[in-house]
Amino acid sequence: MEKIAQTIPFRYYMNIMDHKPTREEAWTILTEHVNSPSLVSHALAVEAVMRHFARKKSADEDLWGIIGLIHDVDYEEHPDEHLRHAPEILRRHGWPEESVRAVASHGWGLFTDIAPVTDLEKTLFAIDELTGLVAAAARVRPSRSVMDLPVKSVLKKWKDKGFAAGVDRKVIEKGATLLEVPLEELIADTIEGMKAIAETIGLKGNPGGTSST
Ligand SMILES: [Fe+2]
Repeated sequence: MEKIAQTIPFRYYMNIMDHKPTREEAWTILTEHVNSPSLVSHALAVEAVMRHFARKKSADEDLWGIIGLIHDVDYEEHPDEHLRHAPEILRRHGWPEESVRAVASHGWGLFTDIAPVTDLEKTLFAIDELTGLVAAAARVRPSRSVMDLPVKSVLKKWKDKGFAAGVDRKVIEKGATLLEVPLEELIADTIEGMKAIAETIGLKGNPGGTSST
């Protein structure tokens, strides 16, 4: 066996080791490294939005979803060294370099100098922070729901810099520019994507009804 490995060129050997990650595998790796329910909810929200965009663009929905799910895999364990550890974690599991790169590029300008180039990378970069603003905007509605959240309501919160102050509006704007889409469209698609996972992440609320508080 050792002899066979020695006769195979290194790069080819690495390709054999690479594989197409499954959603189940991504979930297992994520939950090995992330315990925080809010960070898991964020991962699920980003996955759902990535899947929405993939369907819209007729891209590989599973791949886009899996990258969305795993993108913050090292954040809880290494908040001050975010994305410095994710590549090693993914490589250890034999993930392809394309996936490693896609994950690393979502921290462009803040944690890495890897710029988003592919459609998948640009989308992840653009919607990562935006899912946080959409979730926060949904939570303060009487319905506490993302299901009936209008784009204009998110735009209003966008302008209120004190609201969800941790959400970096500049990164989202940069992402919209990369994707060459208006901010309104990006917000509308992010809301649409999050509806699919609303129940699981606690954003189903009581649309159409009245708040009990
Ligand atoms: Fe994130």
